[in-house]
This record gives sequence, C-alpha cells and structure tokens, in this order.
Amino acid sequence: MLLAGNRRTDPQDSVILCRFYTCAMSNAIADLRKSYERAELDESASHADPLQQFDQWLKEAITSEVPEPNAMTLATVASNLRPSTRVVLIKGYDSQGITWYTNYSSRKGQELAGNPFAALQFHWVELERVVRIEGIVEKVDAQESDAYFHTRPLDSRLGAWASPQSEVISGRGVLVANAAKYAAQFLLQPPRPPHWGGYRLKPDTWQFWQGRKSRLHDRLRYTLAADGQWLRERLAP
Ligand SMILES: Cc1cc2nc3c(=O)[nH]c(=O)nc-3n(C[C@H](O)[C@H](O)[C@H](O)COP(=O)(O)O)c2cc1C
Repeated sequence: MLLAGNRRTDPQDSVILCRFYTCAMSNAIADLRKSYERAELDESASHADPLQQFDQWLKEAITSEVPEPNAMTLATVASNLRPSTRVVLIKGYDSQGITWYTNYSSRKGQELAGNPFAALQFHWVELERVVRIEGIVEKVDAQESDAYFHTRPLDSRLGAWASPQSEVISGRGVLVANAAKYAAQFLLQPPRPPHWGGYRLKPDTWQFWQGRKSRLHDRLRYTLAADGQWLRERLAP
C-alpha cells in the first residue's frame, strides 16, 4: 500500500523498499519491551495453599476487568510426543481440580485419551501475572457434564452437536447445515452429545509468576509432596 500510495512501481525499488520495511518491522518487534512494576509476589504474602493463591489471583483478574480472565491455554502431548496448545475456558475449580468442557473426539480429547498429563496457563497481561498448572486429567462424570451442558445457551448446546471439532470440513456451510439439522431434530431440548463433556485436571504443580522491574520477576512454584503437603519454592526468573 505504501508503494502504491507513493507511486513507486519500479520492481527493483519495490524489492529494496520491501526489504527496508521488513527490516524496520523486525527491529520494531525486537525493540518492544515493557518494564513490569505493578506488584510483587512474596513468600510471606502468598498463600501456603496454591488453590487459595489461584482463587485470589483469578478473583483479582475478574474484578480488574481484564479481557477474558477465564481463558486458559491447555497443552496436551500426543502419543508421538508432539505437543499442542489451544485456549479453553475454566468452568470450575476446587480441591478436586480445574474443569473445562469440550469435544471428547477433538484433537485435545484424543491426545488426553493417549496421555492424561496436561498443563494449563493463564496470562493476565494487564496484571503482569501468569499461572501455570500441571497435572493429570480425567473426564468429569456424566451427571456433572449433563448438569453443566443444560446451563448453556441453546445455540451452544446445538453447536456441540453441529461441530465435529478438529475435523476437516469442506466449508462453513457444513456447520450451518448441521446446526439446522439438529435444531429441527431436537427443537428446544438437545441432550448432551455423548462425545461432549468435561475434563478435570488435578494439579500436582502450580507456578505463580509476577512481573517485576529489571526482569527480576517473582516466581513461586508449589509442588505436591508425598505426604499431601505443598512445597513452596522460589524459582529464578
Ligand atoms: C477465548 C477462547 C475460549 C475457548 N473456549 C473453548 C472451550 O471452553 N472449549 C473448547 O472446546 N474450545 C474452546 N475454544 C476453542 C479452542 O481454542 C480450540 O479451537 C478447539 O477446542 C479445538 O482445539 P483442538 O483441535 O486442539 O482440540 C476457545 C477459544 C478461545 C479463543
């Protein structure tokens, strides 16, 4: 666009200018940096129980009105050891673990079926905070999945039927046609699809990261010991 606006049409000029702008853009990205100075995370001021620390930080993210405070990255590893990530929404958390809902036949569902270990990550950019959680995943029981499914808006319930999540489809029309088909079939009462439900990750490791000045960030890791106690340690940033 710049070239067109300046009427620079010589192909050689274009190549040179493109190289220049690409180079300028790369430098701009390399120069992007920010000093983190909002808060600190100290052993004496953090909770001994990581679930309480998480509860406090998630509530602070919600009250701070950061965008989508409930969005977390879920990492799974396929049986060929290839990792993959995607964003899902947390739907519950307690001493049993952290819950989200999805399609059991999706890529993540298939990877979890082969390898139940997974990791979650929240990044609350405006608060300069990250929480990382690792553990083993199991399916939520059917009654709990049913109960949650029936709280979802009708469109979302039909969407769970309409989308063969992670599969290649020939076009958007497939989804629209599927949604219409299931709307006609189920009217206002779609049942929970058998391929859709919850997962719960039971944490054995938590990590809380608070950005600090001069890249001397605070990192506290909590590891579950054999006696059920949480070991809290500071990691170098
Ligand atoms: C903010 C946000 C929230 C999302 N929440 C969910 C969710 O709760 N469950 C879900 O299955 N997909 C959710 N998605 C879509 C997933 O990121 C992903 O595209 C989908 O689950 C397929 O992933 P997979 O092919 O790796 O299994 C969300 C995406 C975004 C951007």
